[in-house]
Amino acid sequence: MQEGIDSFVIKKVEDLREALHRHNYRYYVLDDPEISDSEYDRMMQELIKLETDYPDLSSPDSPTLRVGAPPLDKFETVGHSIPMLSLDNGFKDSDIIEFDRRVKRNLDTDSDIIYTAEPKLDGVAIELVYENGRLVTASTRGDGFNGELITSNARTIRSAPMVLENKEDKNIPPRLEVRGEVFIRKEGFKRLNHERLQQNLPPFANPRNAAAGSLRQLDSRITANRPLEIFFYGIGVVSDFDINSHGDTLYALQVLGFRINPHIRCKITLNEVLDYYRELSEKRHLLPYDIDGVVIKVDGIGLQQILGATSRSPRWAIAYKFKALQETTRITHIEVQVGRTGVLTPVARLVPVNIGGARVSRATLHNEDEIKRKDIRVGDTVLVQRAGDVIPEVVKVVASKRTGQEIRFKMPQHCPVCNSSVVRAEDEAALRCINTNCSAQVKERIKHFASKGAFDIDGLGDKLVEQLVDKELLFSYADIFGLNEDTLKNLERMGQKSAANIIDAIEKSKQITLARFIYSLGIRHVGEHVAGILATTFGSLEKLMSSTRDDLTAIQGVGPVVAESIADFFNQDENRNAVNDIVAGGVRILGETPRKQGGLEGKVFVLTGTLETLTRSQAKKIIETAGGKVTASVSRNTDYLVAGTSPGSKLKRATDLGVEIIDEKTLRELTIDE
Ligand code: IVH
Repeated sequence: MQEGIDSFVIKKVEDLREALHRHNYRYYVLDDPEISDSEYDRMMQELIKLETDYPDLSSPDSPTLRVGAPPLDKFETVGHSIPMLSLDNGFKDSDIIEFDRRVKRNLDTDSDIIYTAEPKLDGVAIELVYENGRLVTASTRGDGFNGELITSNARTIRSAPMVLENKEDKNIPPRLEVRGEVFIRKEGFKRLNHERLQQNLPPFANPRNAAAGSLRQLDSRITANRPLEIFFYGIGVVSDFDINSHGDTLYALQVLGFRINPHIRCKITLNEVLDYYRELSEKRHLLPYDIDGVVIKVDGIGLQQILGATSRSPRWAIAYKFKALQETTRITHIEVQVGRTGVLTPVARLVPVNIGGARVSRATLHNEDEIKRKDIRVGDTVLVQRAGDVIPEVVKVVASKRTGQEIRFKMPQHCPVCNSSVVRAEDEAALRCINTNCSAQVKERIKHFASKGAFDIDGLGDKLVEQLVDKELLFSYADIFGLNEDTLKNLERMGQKSAANIIDAIEKSKQITLARFIYSLGIRHVGEHVAGILATTFGSLEKLMSSTRDDLTAIQGVGPVVAESIADFFNQDENRNAVNDIVAGGVRILGETPRKQGGLEGKVFVLTGTLETLTRSQAKKIIETAGGKVTASVSRNTDYLVAGTSPGSKLKRATDLGVEIIDEKTLRELTIDE
């Protein structure tokens, strides 16, 4: 212990940890928070500060470790004391009836067997080891015998306890190995892929892949930013745990603070198991996470031990799988779409097919490498999958249906929309159209700008944006704020009333939070999450725009690639101008100090040189809005000369005449409302 640490500090740290663990449990396990998110954040910040000031007080079970630890070079391997086995699969009632017969035969009994039935979560298995109530290690299933040590990553999963609860005054086992399934909700998966697409990263094929990929990150800070959750379903070796049924085990785990799936049905007969399967297969679409079947387990631990296991799977359990959300159909042709950042995405057009109740006529092929890897050709019969609510994708080619007539697909050398060259950047799977003025890119950028998480302009939907860009009525973001009813009402399928509504929505959107504003700019790698971090860190657009790459890299949650992309974005004049034009269009960022309306009446300004962020016309607009006047040359009547870099002769004349010389920063101060 660091010498001379005030006992008050030690107590404070302990209290904060205890409270944060408790609130974490209430929020993530019980789904019943007691305090607000901001109160929780405040306590977390206080603890982070104390641990930074007093490094000797650090501890492996501090809640601050939920944000991740420094990256590893590689994962170590650990053995599981009891192998993590797989499950046998059943696909129809008769498979389960047969399983029940086998169980009875092996137990040499005619009596009904008592089962527990659980949703089979479609995620990744994990084992956590607790010693004296503290999480010490976590590992993946690996090959069942040896897994990878991913302790820091597991600590970032909020629904996995770091210290155990002892609510019923039961003894906490000295050693407890507990197993569960790590997963990502459908909603979180959609958001994650949306962000990845914005960052031009390949999307995850399904929530399970996303969970597996997130859990196996060498940098646990990345894991911490993924919406991983866990449900526990079993144990490995446990000392001093006198329990004789699976249902009771689950209950005991729950008492210790582990999250157990609420849809588990304990102590039921075979017929009830079959009813449960039907019930769950009907409502699986309503669950917020993917399940792919029901796991049926003999409830008695004594019976489980008698039944034992084969080398692959236990004889006391079986997975009754649901029907897959996959169908086969044929690719009629492949088209190429151009995205917001110019990325070319190949999309398969399909003979329409019904998959799990939805008509599917197109599926993403992701990129050229994926087409090559899966050897997908036009005319191929393919297996198409709809995972959750995401865009359907082609899983694989049905090779046996090849006729030899199929045609290999080649990505175009030129943009299919504007015919500019396309390039493939180093380390990237994507081809990109180099023309930032390509109408496809302009359309996608503006759609993004007007979308829900951004300016959220009601009525300015995809079709209308396309129409306005095609008619050359929209080109830049700021053009939106120059639209008027007369222009809109002359468009096809648009009446006076809808035109008025859209103008009204545009007007309303002008009040916007900084986070949304930043997000709307469509900077590569800046999704809603990063935009939120930037907004809180900088507090104003101006500070963000003048930040350096180093300022950005220093921020928690902003990696070097993201920092570089943001710095690059604001280094380009056309982007700075676009931002300033939006502001000049009358947009007000909430929480930022508003521009002065009046107050500088009678003051005369002259501009010279290149200003830091504003163009001449933007500076003029700000001055005029504040009531001032801008003239072309310096005279005795001039009150201020606003000088940027490389000022001309006006600077000398102003100095000679004793005119006050100010920079852009001072100009901003003069025009801000106190
Ligand atoms: S019991 C020996 N229960 O399914 C018993 N497994 O195919 C094996 N899984 O690796 C585990 N939900 O990742 C069990 N409620 C549940 C489960 C479940 C999902 C996964 C688990 C396992 C795989 C076996």
